[in-house]
Amino acid sequence: MNEVRLGIVGLGRLGKRHAHNLRYRVPGARLVAACSVVPDELTWARDELGVENTYDSYDKMIASDEIDAVFLVSTSSFHGEQIKAGLAAGKHVFSEKPMGVTIEECHDVEGAVAAAPNLHFQLGFVRRFDPSLAYAKQKIDEGAIGEPFLVRAQTVDTDEFAEFQIKFVPNSGGIFMDMNSHDIDLARWFIGSEIKSVYAIGGSYVHPGFAEVNDADNTVALCQFENGKMAVISASRTAFHGHDTHTEITGSKGILKIGMTPSKNRVEIFDDKGARVECVQDFYERFHEGFLLEAQSFVNGIIDGVKPSIFATDGTRATEVGFALTQSFKEKRVVEL
Ligand SMILES: NC(=O)c1ccc[n+]([C@@H]2O[C@H](COP(=O)([O-])OP(=O)(O)OC[C@H]3O[C@@H](n4cnc5c(N)ncnc54)[C@H](O)[C@@H]3O)[C@@H](O)[C@H]2O)c1
Repeated sequence: MNEVRLGIVGLGRLGKRHAHNLRYRVPGARLVAACSVVPDELTWARDELGVENTYDSYDKMIASDEIDAVFLVSTSSFHGEQIKAGLAAGKHVFSEKPMGVTIEECHDVEGAVAAAPNLHFQLGFVRRFDPSLAYAKQKIDEGAIGEPFLVRAQTVDTDEFAEFQIKFVPNSGGIFMDMNSHDIDLARWFIGSEIKSVYAIGGSYVHPGFAEVNDADNTVALCQFENGKMAVISASRTAFHGHDTHTEITGSKGILKIGMTPSKNRVEIFDDKGARVECVQDFYERFHEGFLLEAQSFVNGIIDGVKPSIFATDGTRATEVGFALTQSFKEKRVVEL
């Protein structure tokens, strides 16, 4: 096999970006099909990307012999079922995070992945493919900061999306599940242990609408790992300067800081307002290289027969910790996993 024929599912905010990458920027990928429940999105796929086969039904798409793999960028609550059905139809599966919105669903996916050992399953923990975060992991593995014992990771979105996000809370799983799943995954990856207890606090400090749906616009959580090490994970939906997602790892011999100033580029502006940089404005601008590299890795893995390094169990752990953080925030207590 020297090319992978893909069908993309979901052509919304992120799906269009993935589709564009698969069509034009991932050698070895051939985007031959697209599925969406929104007719205009299918028209877009045909007109803008020249996708030959479009479907309004996922089941019809996976019944086709013309695709080897599905690339799921659908609404989170559909991921679990679509992963299982894709594998059962003999397709390799890439799925955006979260792997499932319930723990039971995640366990079902783990079973489906184990039952299809010849198929590839990769979860979209894009930050593991970000060149700077991947380099940080390499430095940790080389012992550059000694023994890592504290990860501080935050995901911060700009305020302009906040009102819009309130109505997505019931389907997204809330701020911890939706925004912190990458931070949880990174903390596990860097520390090399499982989170065993969490305590989360937060509130709706800027947008009362989040409190009305039992969620928050700003949160902070303390996490302790089974090996005694620590993580501080925070989220905000109310920044004005830009998308400010950064990570810091402290070890016994040093500290790694990744993206602490969310600069758009290397230009510094010195003018009558002072000295400043412009900032990235959304997750895609910050992680666009990672999105491309994760898609390339999925396609190369299928062509070369090399299994992905992110496992279904990683998806389950992120969902379990996301639930524990939500529970801790709502019940105002420490939650043990
Ligand atoms: N990795 C990241 O950093 C990151 C960032 C943003 C979004 N995401 C994830 O990507 C997914 C999509 O997010 P979005 O912001 O693009 O959402 P969106 O609402 O803009 O798009 C969702 C798409 O799914 C399609 N869809 C919904 N139900 C479907 C079904 N049953 N069958 C086929 N298609 C269906 C819709 O037509 C739409 O095209 C979410 O799961 C989200 O968590 C990940």
